[in-house]
Amino acid sequence: MAVKKRLFTGLQPSGQLHLGNYFGALKPFLDTYQEYDSFLMVADYHSLTSLKNPTELRANVVEVVRAYLALGVEPSKTVIFKQSDVPEHTELAWIFDCLVSVQFLIQGHAYKDKVAKGLEPNAGLFTYPMLMAADILLYDTDMVPVGQDQRQHIEYAREAAAKFNITFGQTFKEPQEKISDDVAVVPGIDGQKMSKSYGNTVPLFGSREEIAKAVMGIVTDSSGERPENVYAIHKLIKSEEELAGLYEEKKGKYKDLKEALIEDLDAFIAPMREKRTAITDEEVKRVLTEGAAKAKAFAAAKMTDVRKKVGVTI
Ligand code: ADP
Ligand code: TRP
Repeated sequence: MAVKKRLFTGLQPSGQLHLGNYFGALKPFLDTYQEYDSFLMVADYHSLTSLKNPTELRANVVEVVRAYLALGVEPSKTVIFKQSDVPEHTELAWIFDCLVSVQFLIQGHAYKDKVAKGLEPNAGLFTYPMLMAADILLYDTDMVPVGQDQRQHIEYAREAAAKFNITFGQTFKEPQEKISDDVAVVPGIDGQKMSKSYGNTVPLFGSREEIAKAVMGIVTDSSGERPENVYAIHKLIKSEEELAGLYEEKKGKYKDLKEALIEDLDAFIAPMREKRTAITDEEVKRVLTEGAAKAKAFAAAKMTDVRKKVGVTI
């Protein structure tokens, strides 16, 4: 049997998940993770660059793991862990910080964006790409599935690997990003990209009431026969063929179409919602503890080699 390639992906625990997260991140992982030797990491230390509320951080970490489990990701077939449980990540990040230049990090998009907005970026945000490089490189990763906005971070990880290898000898594999072009941007209830920062989301595990509230809030303009923002969300869960008859029959009847969308979204979400409530905090913690032990086994072995190579082992 051919050896499976290693896939590593990470996500920041950022609160209530929405349909955009589902179609853009969770589902693509669910559809492919078993083809790889895969790792799924919750980047809690990365979140600390923006989130300074311990209660919220804890709740977000549990929420995101619970979401993956509710969707059917099997912890026996992938390693699910959180970054802070494997301190080798922050340790290696420091070594990379000492190899790359300030000039190089200044070109980072996330950092540049904050500066452009007039915000004061913290030093963690500045060195963020080196922590992400450490995440990826510790596991001899081949493939990193990420959204378009993370492309530069994978380039930075390759750069960190190359710098280390040139300075101390071949140690790290240079990873490739995997950015799917077919994962479309999911529109929100106002037609813009669905994002929690725009307040235009349909919650992934929303109750029927929450779904109804979101759908009733979909912005429609009365100029056409088809409410485009309603249709765009409907299209995510039903094929265009299935929808053709309905939208023909209910031409111009926006309220009826919204009601049909509520019905369909509720039918789509209900099974996931039920699975989610059945997953306890204890189960989430157990999964993370087991995942941390497996991740640690790889990371510790790699760091033993790295420490020797840089000369801190005497
Ligand atoms: P948000 O924009 O709500 O803050 P995040 O930036 O936390 O979402 O995104 C987490 C993951 O979900 C990323 O992989 C991102 O690409 C994906 N994602 C978020 N919103 C969308 C969307 N509207 N369409 C497709 N993918 C999305
Ligand atoms: N920076 C990524 C994001 O915001 C999250 C992340 C952290 C990550 N470490 C990673 C993604 C390692 C892939 C691999 O989406």
